Amino acid sequence: MKKIVDIGDSESKQKNRSNIFFSLKNSSKSIPTRYLYDELGSKLFEKICNTEEYYLTRVEQYLLETNASEIVKLSNPTDIFEFGSGSSKKTTLLIGEQFENNPNISYSSLDISRKALKMTFEQVKKINNKIQINLFKGDFLSDLKKVQLINTPRLFLFLGSTLGNFDDKIALAFLTGLRKVMKKKDYFLLGIDMLKEESIITSAYNDSKGITKRFNKNILQVVNKKYKLKFNKNNFEHQAYFNSRKSQIEMYLKSKKEHKIQLPDNSSIQINSGEKILTEISRKFSFKVIQSLLKKSDLKIEKKFQDKKKYYTLMLIRRL
Ligand SMILES: C[S@@+](CC[C@H](N)C(=O)[O-])C[C@H]1O[C@@H](n2cnc3c(N)ncnc32)[C@H](O)[C@@H]1O
Repeated sequence: MKKIVDIGDSESKQKNRSNIFFSLKNSSKSIPTRYLYDELGSKLFEKICNTEEYYLTRVEQYLLETNASEIVKLSNPTDIFEFGSGSSKKTTLLIGEQFENNPNISYSSLDISRKALKMTFEQVKKINNKIQINLFKGDFLSDLKKVQLINTPRLFLFLGSTLGNFDDKIALAFLTGLRKVMKKKDYFLLGIDMLKEESIITSAYNDSKGITKRFNKNILQVVNKKYKLKFNKNNFEHQAYFNSRKSQIEMYLKSKKEHKIQLPDNSSIQINSGEKILTEISRKFSFKVIQSLLKKSDLKIEKKFQDKKKYYTLMLIRRL
């Protein structure tokens, strides 16, 4: 197995610890979305991608299958650098296509989950053993500046509509951070989920097999282990609904009863019956919103690829 380089530093780990206790004590409680992705969370996410209801993966896969050759022709990268790669199954379509053009390409992934990086390695290696693979374990919101990017030009990838997990402020911080490291010849391929009929969106986060429910509840096991807490997942139910005012799915854990959670510093968190802990937002975009975010980040869409029903869009982006 290829070595995974851990680029998360102890200072940010300490900051994460105080932030999570603060957001749990707050009147509107939340747990950062990245804690959904431990070993089990990453496996469950892969299963979600294969559910009938989760159209996002299928449509993005189709768009990559039909457009990979044009995307690599336009961008012609020497390094393909992916944020939050998950298993990288879809990405192999692009890497394989570019490997045909340039057998010296490298592939890099920056993901918070060791399991995701391991799956990525196994997938990319299958294309050809000679591809140089760089695996960075870290936070794509804070650790990009610690990565040494050597090979250029690069094609940055942010797939799976992961940008939808950010509110405007965080999305802008991510996009401007990326813009700063982009060179003139670099491209950025962004996959985003578009606004559509509400019932289709809601079903994708409430699959009939209950996998999303398990994925959501697993976040409690992750913070229990990391911060020595004693959340009982049976005291919570999975809730995911569409907030039409904000055009986003909001995923919560809703408490079934009043109870307390002891913190390591001997203080405690009071959780009321019916109180909700936010674990993820998943925004659904219009072009107007995404274009405005890109413009404010000094980025422009060079070409976009959409399915017939306009469920999903891949955008090939450059510096303004
Ligand atoms: C929605 S999944 C998408 C996975 C894959 N790109 C796809 O399209 O199927 C989000 C991915 O980002 C990773 N991730 C989540 N938050 C992260 C963070 N703050 N920093 C780095 N990676 C993160 C997860 O481990 C996961 O692999």
